[in-house]
Amino acid sequence: MPKIRLGVNIDHVATVRNARGEIYPSPLRAALLSEKYGADSVTIHLREDRRHINEFDLKEIQSKLKIPLNLEIAATNEMLKIALKQKPLFICIVPEKRKEVTTEGGLNLNYNKIFLKKMIKKLKKNGSRISLFIEPNLKDISTAKEINADCIEIHTGKICNLINKKKFYENEIKKIKKAVCFASSLGLEVHAGHGLTFKSAGIISKIKHISEFNIGHFLVGESIFIGLKNTIKKFKKII
Ligand code: PXP
Repeated sequence: MPKIRLGVNIDHVATVRNARGEIYPSPLRAALLSEKYGADSVTIHLREDRRHINEFDLKEIQSKLKIPLNLEIAATNEMLKIALKQKPLFICIVPEKRKEVTTEGGLNLNYNKIFLKKMIKKLKKNGSRISLFIEPNLKDISTAKEINADCIEIHTGKICNLINKKKFYENEIKKIKKAVCFASSLGLEVHAGHGLTFKSAGIISKIKHISEFNIGHFLVGESIFIGLKNTIKKFKKII
């Protein structure tokens, strides 16, 4: 089976920095070290409230990183404008609610389908690969294809929760398998992300046709104990 690419999400390096209003730890340093230690891409989420990554981080990281930068953005005019200007190689469009602690679920594609279709068209013309962060459901996958996304990223939050709590996760994995198979049959590239740990990444990586994982919170947390280098190397080995 071809290797699954690892996208390292460094948002929470910025979370720690911002908690004290300091200039360290540096997200740029984390991005460049991730590249050095074998990450295939670096992911950052520029949120509307700039709670972790800010535009300076985005510009600085993009100007120095040699591997692809994957920019996560909400479907808004402000983010569209920034993404068109910055031209990151990869873009993942995600839902965003101000009060949520993290991205709680997948995009509601039918809610703003027309805007999303126009946004995807502009961003693709600008040279970016477009992914949509969605739940593993077949209707959303058909819509993602219809509005010309290149990839989908399946929200793995639910299954990761079940695995963490040692609960029955077989139904969820069946659902994900079916979704991955369907998306792949439509020619969409399939990614997965949210809540992944060494254990859940190992389980989900057995599903055929997933080509990229985006992992942040656990990876940054684990780096405190075993270092960024060892954490990335361990994830690369598992997937
Ligand atoms: N993929 C997407 C699209 C996300 O929005 C996030 C969280 O911001 C992740 C992956 C990473 O999730 P986690 O930080 O739980 O590993």
